[in-house]
Amino acid sequence: MKTLSLKSLSKTYFDAYAGTQVTAVRDVSLDIAEGEFVAIVGPSGCGKSTILNMIAGFIPASGGEILVGGRLVKGPGPDRGVVFQSFALFPWKTVIDNVGFGPKMRGVPKAERDAIAREYLALAGLTEAAGRYPNELSGGMQQRVGVVRALANEPDVLLMDEPFASVDAQTRMTLQEELTRIWQERRPTVLFITHDVAEAVFLASRVIVLSRGTVKAEVEIDLPRPRTWDSLAHDNGFKDLSAEILGLVRTA
Ligand SMILES: Nc1ncnc2c1ncn2[C@@H]1O[C@H](COP(=O)(O)OP(=O)(O)O)[C@@H](O)[C@H]1O
Ligand SMILES: [Mg+2]
Repeated sequence: MKTLSLKSLSKTYFDAYAGTQVTAVRDVSLDIAEGEFVAIVGPSGCGKSTILNMIAGFIPASGGEILVGGRLVKGPGPDRGVVFQSFALFPWKTVIDNVGFGPKMRGVPKAERDAIAREYLALAGLTEAAGRYPNELSGGMQQRVGVVRALANEPDVLLMDEPFASVDAQTRMTLQEELTRIWQERRPTVLFITHDVAEAVFLASRVIVLSRGTVKAEVEIDLPRPRTWDSLAHDNGFKDLSAEILGLVRTA
């Protein structure tokens, strides 16, 4: 079961500068079903990355529980794939070896992991780039490889923290369209974090509005799929949902 469940999750940091405790995440509970795409939106500093880093197992929670497929999270693991804003590809490995790295760590033989990597590269239109090195690719292509590398590891849950925030607006729209198409084809369970309301509405089936570390609202996104910017940019349902969520974020 590729579910993700957060139960009264909280995080307190010690602010060494002020000499006080700071509560970054407070009592967040959330259930994500297998194959669901959930986005968390909220302004900078509201605790989004803290939640994602706890789920990834990079930082310990101060309270509460995280369950992936019903199992308690105690640290990082291959059941959770993570994609960040920075590309973090291995510069000394070709694209195909970057994508095949997860399978390699699982002990998948070379021929088989190359086949897996090629399949995922094709899914993102990256077949031609297989033999290239990351520094020979544009920022958008590097980020596309980052997404594909996480998928090729076939994690139970895909965690994405503002993965498209550092690419130009045009490329970002292409990547969003690609991600929604791949999601529809493969139906991974996704938790996607962004401060961009339109991005959240475009991608997600459900949007969680986070405010000062707590869940302020939850909005179902019942827009039809497949979704493309051509079909949604002028869609009244898209506009209404975006306006509603933007209002919630701004009064957060
Ligand atoms: N390592 C840390 N030590 C102290 N405070 C932190 C640390 N990381 C984050 N914070 C604080 O926790 C809050 C939430 O941060 P973060 O989760 O990065 O927010 P977001 O990703 O929504 O921008 C902020 O007030 C931030 O300053
Ligand atoms: Mg962040």
